[in-house]
Amino acid sequence: MQSAQMYDTFRVNSPNVEYTEEAIISKYTYQTTKSAFINNELVVEPVDQKYTFKTERKVPRLGCMIVGLGGNNGTTVVGGVIANREGLCWKTKQGVQSPNYFGSVIMSSTIKLGLDEKGRDAYVPLKNLVPMVHPNDIVFGGWDINNADLAEAMQRAEVFEYDLQAQLIPHMKQIRPLPSIYFPDFIAANQKDRANNVLTGTKKEQMEQIRKDIREFKEANKLDKVIVCWSANTERFSSVIAGINDTWENLQAAIEKGEEEISPSTLFAVASILENTTYINGSPQNTFVPAVVELAIAKNVTIGGDDFKTGQTKIKSVLTDFLVSAGIKPVSIVSYNHLGNNDGKNLSAPQQFRSKEITKSNVVDDMIASNSILYKEGEHPDHVIVIKYVPYVGDSKRAMDEYTSQIFMGGHNTIVLHNTCEDSLLAAPIILDLVILAELSARISMKPEGSDEFIGFHPVLSILSYLLKAPLVPEKAKVVNALFKQRAAIENILKACLSLPPDNNMLLEERL
Ligand SMILES: NC(=O)c1ccc[n+]([C@@H]2O[C@H](COP(=O)([O-])OP(=O)(O)OC[C@H]3O[C@@H](n4cnc5c(N)ncnc54)[C@H](O)[C@@H]3O)[C@@H](O)[C@H]2O)c1
Repeated sequence: MQSAQMYDTFRVNSPNVEYTEEAIISKYTYQTTKSAFINNELVVEPVDQKYTFKTERKVPRLGCMIVGLGGNNGTTVVGGVIANREGLCWKTKQGVQSPNYFGSVIMSSTIKLGLDEKGRDAYVPLKNLVPMVHPNDIVFGGWDINNADLAEAMQRAEVFEYDLQAQLIPHMKQIRPLPSIYFPDFIAANQKDRANNVLTGTKKEQMEQIRKDIREFKEANKLDKVIVCWSANTERFSSVIAGINDTWENLQAAIEKGEEEISPSTLFAVASILENTTYINGSPQNTFVPAVVELAIAKNVTIGGDDFKTGQTKIKSVLTDFLVSAGIKPVSIVSYNHLGNNDGKNLSAPQQFRSKEITKSNVVDDMIASNSILYKEGEHPDHVIVIKYVPYVGDSKRAMDEYTSQIFMGGHNTIVLHNTCEDSLLAAPIILDLVILAELSARISMKPEGSDEFIGFHPVLSILSYLLKAPLVPEKAKVVNALFKQRAAIENILKACLSLPPDNNMLLEERL
């Protein structure tokens, strides 16, 4: 007997859900707990909080501007979407391949909505839960410090198969990146040769040009919304300096003065926020210095970061969670990478490597902190990350990890992994997910019981954490790195929009 069935369409039959022309209105009881340590014991109380969720149904015409459009990720996202939109099929030695959106949690994963009348698990595609932008409808543009058109840039990237490249060339050669902001000090010196498409003028003038580019792109393509995503080279960390980038007032003055420590990515983020445009940081650097976060909150513009979560870190955020929650104690995690694309070349410089090392380092912290049977206060596994540039392997990044854990009675368990990452083919669907989810989040609002006002998500959009290595969260919020918790957050929030309960896996109907 088949135990699961997928359905494309569905309807929620509940007095708590109303579908109006403009919105889906859902009455939802958020079941949580409140606890306190009283007289030497933890006292836990269940709490029911009632919310009304509103999801606007009109899907906007969406544009995505990529900083680093001519890079491996940029060309892979754009080429992948064109291939899907145009239905391009290509020949390889394994036969004819057709386009898909595998690797996108939105486009290619499903959600269980319960049991059907035959007792089978009933799944629906995640993308069909509430109205979402389809990637085929996103209009792409952006900037690059290199002037190659996207056909040339795609060939340079060596990501797609030859036959697919040949079919994409006529489409891709019509797209040319806009000139960008280039301050050589922020990326590796070995990138200098690429910089032939750069803005000139003061920092303020360059930032104003980016604002103008966003406005013009929106107007020229008749877009309702634009999202800007940084997929350019990893920058070194900026120093956070009192009086320069600590508050928005200071940063504004520092941009006017052309202070050296203001990075290109910070100028892009500021330009986007000032244009009420969501900004996502796909690289590890600290674009979101305190002044930028302050500005985003003040203007209520969404920001998300940092660093796309694609290969090694994704595995780490699953494996460490599994080990610690199984009562096994990881004591040493050692990760080696080698890659041969331009990202690898840039990361071969120490300061840019350091940015990556920082975002990769903290990904197990919440899991370690969750279990004080295994770890004493302050105790942490040894955690080492090495990245080497090996040109021959190109975009096919190799990630090798060794996890050593303490097990029962002083024993040891060692897991060794070898992961061939195909870097940009993993990153491109994640870029799409980030853009689609960030757009959707702006159409969801909630009204707590007793209030008259619907409120949206915090501008620091932590629901994007599933897709990012070092999730940026609102001040005082907890960082969750464990992948399945992050996915459950997305799934359960979308279910709440339809007044459906979280999947609790109790399966009482089968167990009793
Ligand atoms: N592919 C992945 O799996 C992955 C995962 C996580 C993070 N990232 C990050 O994404 C970024 C892009 O990766 P990639 O493989 O596409 O790299 P890439 O080097 O192929 O592309 C980066 C592009 O950015 C351009 N660029 C550099 N500085 C710029 C600036 N100031 N303005 C505009 N363009 C600029 C470069 O000319 C280049 O075309 C890197 O920072 C990388 O660390 C990638």
